[in-house]
Parts: sequence; C-alpha cells; structure tokens
Amino acid sequence: MPAITLVGAQWGDEGKGKATDLVGNRVDYVVRYQGGNNAGHTVVIGDQKYALHLLPAGILSPDVVPVIANGVVIDPAVLFEELRGLRERGVSTERLLISANAHMIMPYHRALDKVTERFLGKGRIGTTGRGIGPTYADKISRTGIRVQDMFDPKILRQKLELALHDKNQVLTKVFNRRGVELEQVFDEYMEYAEELRPFVADTSLELNRALDAGKTVYLEGSQGTLLDIDHGTYPFVTSSSPTSGGACAGAGIGPTRIDKVVGIIKAYTTRVGSGPFPTELHDEWGDWLRQKGGEYGVTTGRNRRCGWFDAPIARYATRINGITDFFLTKLDVLSGLERIPVCVGYQANGTRYDEIPMTQTEFHHAVPVYEYLDGWNEDISHARAFEELPKTAQAYVRTLEEMAGAPMSAIGVGPGRDQTLELRSLV
Ligand code: GDP
Ligand code: IMO
Ligand code: MG
Repeated sequence: MPAITLVGAQWGDEGKGKATDLVGNRVDYVVRYQGGNNAGHTVVIGDQKYALHLLPAGILSPDVVPVIANGVVIDPAVLFEELRGLRERGVSTERLLISANAHMIMPYHRALDKVTERFLGKGRIGTTGRGIGPTYADKISRTGIRVQDMFDPKILRQKLELALHDKNQVLTKVFNRRGVELEQVFDEYMEYAEELRPFVADTSLELNRALDAGKTVYLEGSQGTLLDIDHGTYPFVTSSSPTSGGACAGAGIGPTRIDKVVGIIKAYTTRVGSGPFPTELHDEWGDWLRQKGGEYGVTTGRNRRCGWFDAPIARYATRINGITDFFLTKLDVLSGLERIPVCVGYQANGTRYDEIPMTQTEFHHAVPVYEYLDGWNEDISHARAFEELPKTAQAYVRTLEEMAGAPMSAIGVGPGRDQTLELRSLV
C-alpha cells in the first residue's frame, strides 16, 4: 500500500486537521514531517473540538500510529502539555513515535524569534513566536540539538556550550536582553529526556518497513505551499518545506513511495501574518468571511486576513506539489452570496499575469483580475452528496477544479467529521 501526502495549498489553515481525521480510520500511520507548534489543526468529532499543534491529527484515531518525524522541530514542554491534555480527555497517546533526529526548540530560540520580530518592526514576518525560524536556522548551521543528543549528558552540555556562546552574545549585546543560563537549560532538558525516551524510535526505518508490509502511511503537512521556505512568498514564510517534496526529506521516505498528493484548499483564501496577498479584502466583505468562516488563528488567536479564491495560487500549488486530488473545504461559508468573485489572473505595473509573477515585487503589486461566478442562498451544511448541492454550487466547484488543474475529490460543508462529500476516495 502507498504513502499519501497531504499538503496545504494556500497559506495554511485550509482544514488539514479535518482532512486527516476523515481518513484516520483508513490509514495505519499519520506522520508530521515538518514545522512545529506553529501549526494549529482543528478536529471536530461530534461535540468535541480538539486543537493540535505539534501532534499529528491522526493521534485521535485509535488504530493509527502517530509519528513525529525527523523534519519536525519539537518544543518538549508543549509536547508534554499537549499529550497530557489529550490523555485527560481519554485519548490514548502511548502509540506515539518520535524521531531521534528531530531538532529541539530551545529557550534561546523562542527568545530570538521574539526579539528579531520586535527589531523588524513594520517589516516583521508576523511569526507565531514559537522559536521555529531560529531552530531551523541552527539545524542548517549545524549547531542544532537533536532528540538523540539529550540522551548523552556530555554531548548535550557540549552542544549547549557551543550554541550559547553565540546566542548569549546576541541576546545581551545586540538585543539588550538577559542571556540564557547553561545549567538551567541543561537540567530542564535532561528532565525532558527521560519523559521523551519511551517514544523515541528510528521512524524512517519504521515507516519504510510499514510500507514494505503493505501498510498505509499518511504524511500530514502543516502550514501551506505559499509558506514554504523555497516556494512561498519569501521572506514572509515559515522556515521549513511544507510542500510535498519536503515530505520525503522530513519523513525519510523515498519519492517513489508516494503515489497520491492531496491538496487541501479553501473555497476562499486566508492568511495569518505579513506578506503579499492579492485577493485580500480590506472592506466589509473581509469581515463577512472572517465572521462566517470563524477565521481566527488556532495558535495565536490572531484575526486571519481574508479574501476571495485565487486560481493562479491553486494552479501553482498543483504544480509545485504534484497534487493528484484536492479537498475543497469551507464551501458552506460562501452560502448567501449573489455572485462570487474568483481571481483568474493579475495586473501589475501595466502587465497582465495569468500565473504568479516571477518576482516578489511584481507579486506585491499584483491587483487581482476577477471573474464572477453565480452564488447560492441555500444552507448546504446538511448536504451529503454532490448532487444535493445547488446547481450553482456544483458549477462553482467544477470551475475551481478546472482552474486548479486537479480534481476536487472531497468537499467540506462544515467543520464536523461527517460534513464532507467524498467524490473519490482520498486514500
Ligand atoms: P489546518 O491548520 O489546516 O488544520 O486548519 P485550521 O484548523 O487552522 O482551520 C480550519 C478551520 O476550519 C477549523 O476551525 C475547522 O474546524 C474548520 N473547517 C474545516 N473544514 C471546514 C468546512 O468544510 N466548513 C467549515 N465551515 N469549517 C471547516
Ligand atoms: P497550520 O498548520 C497559518 C505563519 C505565521 C507567519 C509565518 C512564519 O495551522 O496551517 P513561523 O512561526 O512559522 O516562523 O511564522 O508563517 N504560519 C502559519 N499560518 N497556519 C499555520 O499553520 C502557520 N504556521 C505558521 O503566521 O506568517
Ligand atoms: Mg491551522
């Protein structure tokens, strides 16, 4: 059986948690392959709502083995808090596997994330302040601390000494903040090590063996294509590779293992934090989408910026990720509009663009060119088959499908587990 990758096709918060939960009882492993607790994935099961930050949403499915793979960055305090919260709600957590190669978010990473943002002022990225960027920066600089380093006190101390040599200079001399005390961090992380130990495994080996044995592995992306460090709206991006290529490196699986890439995409667009967003609405329609769609951040509680569907972005996501199927979420939110604007291209500096322009400057100046599709008034949240949707809603989906370049295989009509029309099996 195959590996399936799930990716956000826009700027995150497309409904990845719900999509993972939908297939939870049909897969054997659910793997987080990048990002950290900057993510916020919501799963609604009956009257219970769960917000997951670091754990894969598959942890809520009793037969799934949830995996935090090598590409993820781990804040141990957050991990244990999240595990504790789930256990208190009756969710079993002992199946969790954590890669020995995943990198640790350290207190100085969180501190640096915050001071850098403050320093940038108006030019800030609008990060989640969780230390994600500085942790990945250390990973690439080869000064990071991995899960396995915490099991050898001598190595942990050595690596901490090396890291703090620079970090404390920067915190105290550049940013005028308090430095980080080596012994304090050392003791704190030695305690975490004991709590982590039972979960730690060679997750790449485990996943490859599982695939050999015919099991299904589901790779749950966080963030989204336009937040990708290489393919997103740099520098207004996260510091990892949420796109499908990142899934292989982040999980230790070869690309030939993956035979489906599911793109999660909203029927409109949202973004949290700074950076270009051509279809953003600054008027009452932006407020309308925010209120109707409940567009408030799961992690930071910030208002999400809202705008209409952007077809060049959908096409871009199809291209960059090799998307084979889309899961179109939040179609229900658009009920009540007479006409629905859909962005089909841009104008920038007197030039018409049918695709995302090559340079960030052009994208910053991109003004959307809209086509107007017919809306519908009916509440569609009770629909359970495509044919039960109003004809104009069906046409909206079909038009988006054509523009995006891959089939809309599932459609979300509400946050609940059962509020999904699955036109083609996602697994
Ligand atoms: P993620 O980060 O991609 O997992 O998405 P978030 O959980 O941050 O944000 C998606 C929000 O939309 C959550 O509150 C979900 O419960 C909700 N949601 C997901 N799919 C649908 C849908 O089809 N309709 C509606 N109304 N809400 C949805
Ligand atoms: P999920 O998985 C939406 C955004 C931040 C900021 C930028 C960099 O729930 O879709 P970071 O803290 O990662 O260095 O911040 O990325 N961002 C997200 N936006 N959904 C997310 O995750 C996000 N994770 C990070 O708002 O603009
Ligand atoms: Mg989210």
